[in-house]
Amino acid sequence: MDIIRVEGGHHLEGSVSVSGAKNSALKLMAATLLAPGATTLTNVPNISDVHVMGKVLKGIGATIDVLDEHTLRIDTSSVDSWEAPYELVAKMRASTAVMGPLLGRFGKAKIAMPGGCNLGARKIDMHILGLEALGVEFDTEHGYIYADARAGLTGTNVTLEFASVGATENLIMASVRATGTTVIDNAAREPEIVDLASMLNEMGAKISGAGTPVVTIEGVPELHPVEHRVVGDRIEAGTFLVAGALMAGPAGVEVIGFNPMHLNMVIRKFEAMGISFERTADGLKVSRVERIEPIDIQTLPFPGFPTDMQPQAMTVSALADGNSIITENIFENRFMFASELVRMGADIHIESHHAMIHGVSGFSGAQVSSPDLRGGAALVIAGLTAEGITEVSAVHHIARGYERFVEKLSSLGAHVEHASVPDPDLD
Ligand code: EPZ
Repeated sequence: MDIIRVEGGHHLEGSVSVSGAKNSALKLMAATLLAPGATTLTNVPNISDVHVMGKVLKGIGATIDVLDEHTLRIDTSSVDSWEAPYELVAKMRASTAVMGPLLGRFGKAKIAMPGGCNLGARKIDMHILGLEALGVEFDTEHGYIYADARAGLTGTNVTLEFASVGATENLIMASVRATGTTVIDNAAREPEIVDLASMLNEMGAKISGAGTPVVTIEGVPELHPVEHRVVGDRIEAGTFLVAGALMAGPAGVEVIGFNPMHLNMVIRKFEAMGISFERTADGLKVSRVERIEPIDIQTLPFPGFPTDMQPQAMTVSALADGNSIITENIFENRFMFASELVRMGADIHIESHHAMIHGVSGFSGAQVSSPDLRGGAALVIAGLTAEGITEVSAVHHIARGYERFVEKLSSLGAHVEHASVPDPDLD
């Protein structure tokens, strides 16, 4: 069984560069379906979710040239199918991001029903409602969703019940080729959506308002391939900033390769906890926090506090001098991480969507298991501060969204390594 082994107590110093954003790259890859020809994406993170999306695209006829570790040239000229197969959608929910582009390109899509995951049901009812408003007819059979825009896609006004990232993206990608204008109200405002809209506009789309609650898309007859750089990963950056806040040496830890404006609420909350940041030419530098103040955090759609930073924030607040409350408003089941942190000595009580966190003086190393991608990364960071050795299993979750996580932490001075231990299930 593959694990990440961490020896706590070692200071971190130096500069670390984040990769391109997973939650943008996956959608940009899907969006290449809208522009027949070869689109080149640069600053693509070398992570397993990108490899899965590559398989989805190749499975429907795209060709992908890996020009270098972070540059993909995706040619969708010969795409001749519109099915995202079960085994890939089941592996990665984000595969549903091909639904909008396939409808925009072919007027059809066949997508395996996305299963739930460790975070909850992960439904796509809002995607479907919005696409139906554009004229798409849906049918479900044998675990597949069949989408068909028989009479074409017609622009319309859609108000999302919730500012869903995925629904906003699928609606944008379907409506760029619709006849007429589409207005999405209560749209998600995440920076990754702005990145997607930027690339689509470079391809010839006419999208305005991305990053605001109202996005307007004027349909165009065709899009052309481009070269586009993936935006830096704000969540990876926030993850390394937390590591620095807890374990930086006197020289501090600098995180570069992202836009600090994309972490405004995270920075505001962490500064309220006593963490100090300094803007540098290329990013942000963080010093080790002396005394952690307790905090109340609500996870909300951007520009609110991001749910993808919730486990990392919980790790910090679990070491605060006092009691904190974290409320998870986005996913129905994103506190599994807490029970693993309790094994390291945290004092956390969960009541529905609220985590009551009573600060403790420190963690002790333990054997823990990654519940999901962000929780896994946060467990490694908790191990950096813990007394003794922490062994984190189910590390495949971490590899989904963090490129060279262990290597990047080691480059800062962490004593962390990949290791393999006998699988207890095989004993
Ligand atoms: C994206 O997921 C991200 N994933 C998530 O990151 C992120 O946590 C989330 O946005 C919120 O920011 C990718 O971009 C690949 P949503 P997505 O649609 O699009 C419910 C990570 O760690 N919902 O905003 O699925 C849904 O069940 C991952 O990188 C419906 O009920 O997020 C969830 O509870 C984790 N019906 C909530 O809304 C719908 O039709 C947020 O979903 C759509 C969503």
